[in-house]
Amino acid sequence: MKIFVGQPLVEPSTKDLLTGHEVVTGAGNLPRSEWPSLAEAEALLPTPRERITAEVLAAAPRVRIVASHSVGVDHVDLAACRARGILVTNTPDVLTDATADLAWALILAVSRRLHEGETLARSGSWDGWKPQELLGVSLAGKTLGIYGFGRIGRAVARRGEAFGMNVLPFDKGGTEEDFEGFLSKADVLSIHVPLTDETRGKFGEKELLRMKKGAILVNTARGPIVDEAALVAALSSKHLFGAGLDVFEKEPAIHPGLLSLPNVVVLPHLGSATTDTRLAMARLACEEIARFARGEPPLHPVP
Ligand code: DGY
Repeated sequence: MKIFVGQPLVEPSTKDLLTGHEVVTGAGNLPRSEWPSLAEAEALLPTPRERITAEVLAAAPRVRIVASHSVGVDHVDLAACRARGILVTNTPDVLTDATADLAWALILAVSRRLHEGETLARSGSWDGWKPQELLGVSLAGKTLGIYGFGRIGRAVARRGEAFGMNVLPFDKGGTEEDFEGFLSKADVLSIHVPLTDETRGKFGEKELLRMKKGAILVNTARGPIVDEAALVAALSSKHLFGAGLDVFEKEPAIHPGLLSLPNVVVLPHLGSATTDTRLAMARLACEEIARFARGEPPLHPVP
């Protein structure tokens, strides 16, 4: 098969699992200069950075499978794939622990003000221990709200129990009233839902202000779930204590207001970024294409 891979993956993945196929690898972000390579491709292997729009699919008339190197598939036009009978697969499970670990890295970084502390320690102006210096928030006994109780949400919850937190899940099926109660009770609220029409902009001004005063918001799911301008306002007014963000509304751009606030920790979409995890994701995406070529059923088809 002729396969177009969005950008270089952690190896051995393509080199191991796609031998015998013709693989063309892009440089990332799928610029128009790479579109001619799509004309012959029968399989696409995009990362979240390569948007597989209806227009891209039109430039790839022979494609029969899109094997995404991600669990989230909001960068793939699923309706356009469905209309053409193109199989879409993703890479769940293998990134659950890495993403949950990173959500916790952000919870700890924000609650204990690591960004401000590190900046002070490196500045040369720190003059010694003080009882009132950079006081953070204790977590034990507090409520950890998990918005989206799937694989990653549950893994974040398990870690929360080890920190002595009370877990409060909110999942599909909860009413608007339940959601309001959830917002008002969480001391730390961590987001773990996919980006869909239903979750886009779910955390706007009203919802952020309904959150408990002094709460912490963490987002390792998808940026557009949170209205960044409203978040900047809720942080600037000190309604929220802080925020930890691995994903952004207009990624890779980050709202300048977030960058200038001291108790915001920002990371460049690193949730799954460990060598083991990225290798497992790459191998799973390649395996889906290899199985497809052999006429075997997919491991993780996206409905
Ligand atoms: C995913 O898999 O959807 C992540 O956002 C990238 O690791």
